[in-house]
Order: sequence, then structure tokens, then C-alpha cells
Amino acid sequence: MNVKGKSILITGGAGGLGSVMAKLLAKNGATIFILDLPVAEKSASELIAEIEKEGGEAYFEPIDGTKEEDWKRVVESVGSKGKKIDVLINNAGINIRKPVEEISMEEWMTMMSVNVGGVFLGIKYTIPVMRKQGGGLIINTSSVCGLIGHKFTPEAYTATKGAVTMLTKAIASRYGKDNIRCNSIHPSTVDTPLVHERLKDPQFAQERLGEVPLGRLATADDVANTVLFLASDEASFINGAAVPIDGGVTCY
Ligand SMILES: NC(=O)c1ccc[n+]([C@@H]2O[C@H](COP(=O)([O-])OP(=O)(O)OC[C@H]3O[C@@H](n4cnc5c(N)ncnc54)[C@H](O)[C@@H]3O)[C@@H](O)[C@H]2O)c1
Repeated sequence: MNVKGKSILITGGAGGLGSVMAKLLAKNGATIFILDLPVAEKSASELIAEIEKEGGEAYFEPIDGTKEEDWKRVVESVGSKGKKIDVLINNAGINIRKPVEEISMEEWMTMMSVNVGGVFLGIKYTIPVMRKQGGGLIINTSSVCGLIGHKFTPEAYTATKGAVTMLTKAIASRYGKDNIRCNSIHPSTVDTPLVHERLKDPQFAQERLGEVPLGRLATADDVANTVLFLASDEASFINGAAVPIDGGVTCY
């Protein structure tokens, strides 16, 4: 899978899934820009040290993905290092876990702002750079609930991830002519340390494991391996795809 020499921006790059993507892409020769909130600086620095120890190249760019001025600064900063934007991975996301009857309008708008607004701004500010350099790729992290009305997931989160799915397709169809592709990934519940602990709750385990035809949760490596393929030269004809990484959760 060839990503050697590519310059890849990952929002939420210091977080659970983003950091595993960063490590794998760097290991395969990509230069990584970790875009994350200023509070994530410490974990980003540790991640960069790990990547550099393996001979890779990575930088931290503090950003609140919902702020236009931050995106302008980050795009300029990447350019000032003499780097292109070959791939943007819009991966930052939050989940205010409240059912539709309990969530406030303010909380709804916060979710929309981070999960959809952040993706919109990332696309808005990187597309002109990609067009100028002759092409590029955007990968948006959606979820299984960007494909189905997943009954265990809060509705507001589902609404944001559904928006990401269709924004992806709209960008793919409009900007393909500029050699700019856009795909989305759709993980089911990922086996992070937090979730691993919650699996001790029999109801949680029954709900989350019981829905997966393959009988296990997704791992961060499952997600990162898929991103590595999508970011590689070998995936160059894939555009507008919504790729489930879910062991079959969305099949029924
Ligand atoms: N973990 C799962 O089970 C799962 C399943 C499906 C989809 N997803 C999606 O995968 C993505 C990554 O999730 P994760 O599990 O790694 O979560 P995480 O909480 O570990 O990481 C999210 C990262 O996003 C950053 N972030 C939050 N708000 C931001 C903002 N405004 N600007 C910039 N960065 C911001 C956080 O600092 C954090 O580093 C999210 O979009 C999430 O919705 C996760």
C-alpha cells in the first residue's frame, strides 16, 4: 500500500482512532500533521516522539475544527513547511450521549458544529490547495449510524454522521473533475480501553456484540488499515464510497 511521501492531515489526530491512523500512515512513509485541540498538545507530542523514534515525520497543529481562522492558519502553516495536502482525514468527532427527548438545542448545535461544521471547514479550506496542486483526497470519519438508524446510538450523533455521509458524496461528485476524491468510513463500536471495560456490563455486551455478525467489536487497527488502503495509490479509483468497517452490522 503506497502512501510514501504523502502529506496527510488528520483532525482529532491525537485521539483514539486518529493516533492509530497517524502511527500506521507514518510507518508507511507518510508525513503526518496532527490537527487537534490545544489541550491535546501533550498526547500529540508523545505521539510525535513515538513516530520520530520509528524514523517517521510528524507535526502538531493546534486547531478547533469549528473555527474558520484556525483552518486558515493551519493550511498556511502546512504550506510554509513546503508540504502539500495530499490527504485530509476529517476524523475529529464528539458524542453527547443523550436521547432525542433529553438533548438540548444547544447540545444539538454543538454536535452539529464539531461533527459536521468541522468537516465542512476542513473541506472548504483544503480544496483550493488540492486543486492548485493537481488533486487530493479527503477521507471523512462517519460511523455505522451514518448508514442506518442505529438503535443504540443517540439520534443527534446519528444525524451528524448521516450528514457527513452525504456531504462526502456531494464533494466526490462535484470535485472529481479536479482529481479531488472524497470517501467516508463507517466504523461500528471500536474496542477501545473504555469500551473494553464497559463490556463487563452484560446488557452492553449483549447489545454491542450481539449485533455484529462476525461476533467481535471493531479494533482501531481495523479502522487504520482501511484508512491506509484508502489513502494509498492502490485506491485511486475509489471516489464517493461509504466504506463500512463493521463486521456486517449494517447488513440487516
Ligand atoms: N470509537 C468508536 O467506537 C467510533 C465508532 C464510529 C465512529 N467513530 C468516530 O471516529 C472519530 C474518532 O473517534 P475516537 O473514538 O478516536 O474519539 P476520541 O474522543 O478518542 O478522539 C477524538 C479526537 O477529536 C478531538 N476533537 C474533539 N473536538 C475537536 C475540535 N472541535 N477540533 C479539533 N479536534 C477535536 C479530540 O481532542 C480527540 O483527540 C469520531 O469522528 C467518532 O465519531 C468512533
